[in-house]
Amino acid sequence: MNKTIKSFSKARSRFSVQNKSLLSEADKNIFLQQENFKDFKNLLNETDRNILEIGFGDGKHLYRQAEINPNNFFMGVEVFESGLANIYKRIIKNDLRNLKIMEGDIAEIINKNKSLKIFTKIYILFPDPWPKSKHKKRRLLKKKFILDLKNLLKENGKLIIKTDWQDYAEEIKVNLNEIGLTFKVNEGENPFKTKYEEIAIKEDRKIFNFEIKIEG
Ligand SMILES: C[S@@+](CC[C@H](N)C(=O)[O-])C[C@H]1O[C@@H](n2cnc3c(N)ncnc32)[C@H](O)[C@@H]1O
Repeated sequence: MNKTIKSFSKARSRFSVQNKSLLSEADKNIFLQQENFKDFKNLLNETDRNILEIGFGDGKHLYRQAEINPNNFFMGVEVFESGLANIYKRIIKNDLRNLKIMEGDIAEIINKNKSLKIFTKIYILFPDPWPKSKHKKRRLLKKKFILDLKNLLKENGKLIIKTDWQDYAEEIKVNLNEIGLTFKVNEGENPFKTKYEEIAIKEDRKIFNFEIKIEG
């Protein structure tokens, strides 16, 4: 069997009976599953501003972005079951029309996808740092994956990555330089903090904000 290295912990991606039942009856126009995924293009709305968030966790940032930008269309991908269930409940309760979520491993989803240059922005906020040396191979932001993201972005599109893990930030910088992508790194705070960003601030850790511009 082909054994791929996962960037997430299996325990977090396990579904409880309640969430399984909620999501198995979910509206298929809002909640999608990796096994049914074919291509991003036919899932997106007719807008020229499609935005993707990968690993949205509890969904706080993604939901808020969709809420305040009704003319943009948002899609979130996550494996973490209670994050998916919570944001799904909020979308239904508030009848938010510009956000879809997908359960699955983004690396496998991108491998199935065929459409290129479709997103104007991609967020990856506080990806799992996998701090132990023996686990570093599980980090999501390897060169091949960053190149896949670059191909999903339109010209002048942006890839936004944040991490509070210095060693991961250094690895990302090396990968971006080797690929030849132009980027800025700031240390500022952001209007909508994610759960992991709030923890980093509370624990006084420096945050690295990468803004990577796709020039063509
Ligand atoms: C450290 S958490 C950060 C969550 C959120 N972005 C935040 O800042 O609070 C990383 C998240 O990425 C998700 N994740 C990791 N690898 C993934 C993958 N291959 N596909 C989809 N989600 C993934 C995990 O399930 C987890 O929820």
